Amino acid sequence: MIPKRVGEMLRAGASYPLAREYDIRVPGAINLASNESPYGPSPTVLRALRRELKFAGLYPDPRATRLKLAIGAYLGVDASCVAIGNGSDELVDLVCKVFINPLGRVLIPLPTFAMYELSCRANGGRPVFYSLPNFEWCAEGLKRAAKGAVLVFIGRPNNPTGNGLSLQGLRELLGSGKLVVVDEAYAEFAGYSVAKLAVGRKNLLVLRTLSKAFGLAGLRVGYAVGNPNLIEPIERVRAPFNVNRLAQAAAVAALRDQRYLRKVVAMIKSGRTYMRRELTKLGLKVLPSDANFLMADVSPLGASAPELCDFLAERKIFVRDLSGFRGAGSKYVRITVGTPRQNRQLVLALKKFKRGV
Ligand SMILES: Cc1ncc(COP(=O)(O)O)c(C=O)c1O
Repeated sequence: MIPKRVGEMLRAGASYPLAREYDIRVPGAINLASNESPYGPSPTVLRALRRELKFAGLYPDPRATRLKLAIGAYLGVDASCVAIGNGSDELVDLVCKVFINPLGRVLIPLPTFAMYELSCRANGGRPVFYSLPNFEWCAEGLKRAAKGAVLVFIGRPNNPTGNGLSLQGLRELLGSGKLVVVDEAYAEFAGYSVAKLAVGRKNLLVLRTLSKAFGLAGLRVGYAVGNPNLIEPIERVRAPFNVNRLAQAAAVAALRDQRYLRKVVAMIKSGRTYMRRELTKLGLKVLPSDANFLMADVSPLGASAPELCDFLAERKIFVRDLSGFRGAGSKYVRITVGTPRQNRQLVLALKKFKRGV
């Protein structure tokens, strides 16, 4: 009954490494494991949701016209260069569905976001892994590894390392003619993006989301930006009502509230600086990050990542143990930047761990 490609996926043990806080709803818990915004959506989004609720009995706009226009205005691109998805997760899947032939090779640098591999396998593609040397981006290595691949996924900034391939490196990779899919889920925190560049390129697609800086993770809105030649097939293949009515209305309101976005991004960036400094003082080796999270080697604390995560979880603080991430190893954790109070509580808990109390 199970087709070969799904059988292979099951045998490869590929599954999304779920965070433990999805099962444990502890009152007062601090969740720094899922890279959500600790500030949630803007008040104008909540008002838009209340207004839209009375139309819940009607199907959403299948073309998402208002949403595409709002995205176009936000990025400075034409609405015809935008495809929308039920989170960028769905776009990762759609990209694989549309652009990979059976057994087509897909280059996936490691460690990275698990959905690239899962969607590649689920759609009959073959993942080709390339380990980032010292978790750093190297265009030469990528180009070599990309030989024979039809598509390359690049997180920019990358989850969980927090860093990104340089613009020059990306241009070199584009020169190879492969379809390069740049996932910019964390672009608002990084301050760099190639979304506008994508519009004029034949082989560049950019994926974005409203789950992170805009605080809409629970509503599931993502989008792809690129040349209409690449966007149109995605729009054709996606289900007509993939992004629901409430999500569309919320996303339009969120994109229009740029003041709120700027405030959130500024707070997260200052939290990131604080966390990096404090974690480094505690002896952790923290990678520089352009995103709303930090990847850190916890071995200087004399513990493995699972041990440290268990200690923190007992204190209702959840951070991501990266030992379940392909290519990360057992000494790394990923910590989402929270509110200043959450960040201080984490630092306090780590100090206790270090003192052995
Ligand atoms: C790199 C990256 N891309 C995409 C996503 C998924 O975002 P969405 O909520 O839009 O599906 C995540 C979520 O953690 C991510 O880290």
